Amino acid sequence: MKKLVQPLLSWYDNHARVLPWREEPTPYRVWVSEIMLQQTRVEAVKPYFERFIKALPTVEELSNISEDELLKLWEGLGYYNRARNLQKAAKKIMTEYNGCVPDEYDDLLKLPGIGSYTAGAVSSIAFGKGHAAVDGNVLRVFARVNADDSNVLNSLVKKSLEKRIEEIIPLDRAGAFNQALMELGAMICVPNGTPKCVECPWQAFCIAKEQGNILDYPKKISKKARTIEEKTILIIRDENKTAIRKRPNKGLLAGMYEFPTLEGIKNTKAVIAYVKQLGLEPIRVQKLNASKHIFSHKEWHMIGYSIRVDELQEKSFEHEKNHFLFVDPKETEDKYPIPSAFLAYTNYLNIKLGNTKFREKEIDEK
Ligand code: ADE
Ligand code: SF4
Repeated sequence: MKKLVQPLLSWYDNHARVLPWREEPTPYRVWVSEIMLQQTRVEAVKPYFERFIKALPTVEELSNISEDELLKLWEGLGYYNRARNLQKAAKKIMTEYNGCVPDEYDDLLKLPGIGSYTAGAVSSIAFGKGHAAVDGNVLRVFARVNADDSNVLNSLVKKSLEKRIEEIIPLDRAGAFNQALMELGAMICVPNGTPKCVECPWQAFCIAKEQGNILDYPKKISKKARTIEEKTILIIRDENKTAIRKRPNKGLLAGMYEFPTLEGIKNTKAVIAYVKQLGLEPIRVQKLNASKHIFSHKEWHMIGYSIRVDELQEKSFEHEKNHFLFVDPKETEDKYPIPSAFLAYTNYLNIKLGNTKFREKEIDEK
């Protein structure tokens, strides 16, 4: 392990990308960036990070923003509980740490949304402490260089790597070392496609490369397959408005907005019956394309219907517990956070998700 340190640091000194959170690694900026980077690629994060920091430059401002505005800043990044936990942690930092992100690893670990990876990243990058920051990328590069066939999805394997890294991490460059590992995983020893071994600072030591079976690592043995849920998405609209509702405060996509949704794949007749039961008069029903969205533990397989009704009036839904809102679709663009899972149907309404100024490609939940 020890021989890996110097070549990695020298390589990093010459190849580190210039990234917004590296320019000015304050604890707050490092924390926010690491949360965003947990499940999202660097290129996708960059513009979100800049916008977020501009809107909420301090822990205090983050602690005070409304949930809808917060989720709007996160819209399109996915894993929305990251944003909700960020705010919970900000509130805790205000009351318990006087608004300053704590510098102790164990204190960081107690904050919502912070696990060993993020606690290690923040304490090393922002405070220079010698903790490891092990995520899937770091597990992959070590699995390859050591031709280690442990199951990287097992948390004990991660714990053991954290311990081995903490034995070798250079205390004068702990943040650089952890970021160098991330950089190696992102740029050289890549997860999809062929690693660029000829550019790798570890090529002389890499056992998987020597064995010629790099792509056999890392070993991943997962216990559970994703469950599949079928849904019917309803775009119910009159001349001006469409129906949306806020999702519950717990669970998948908590607090985000969605279109009325029926469980299962429904036919036109069932959809018409449902809409009538809401007290609405369907004028025209049109089937929309099927679409699919993949979450970490679930897949949604969806079909949609566009249902034109004569008039959407709040009172038509009074008997419902659902609290539908009737909004101008354009209004959702700056007011109501809608997850990318509904992209096929927001496109249909000409609603743009995420920050349309920088959003070129759909940024999906991986
Ligand atoms: N991935 C996770 N953290 C990162 C960082 N600080 N720099 C680049 N990529 C990262
Ligand atoms: Fe990864 Fe190739 Fe470097 Fe080995 S030599 S660590 S496989 S990039």
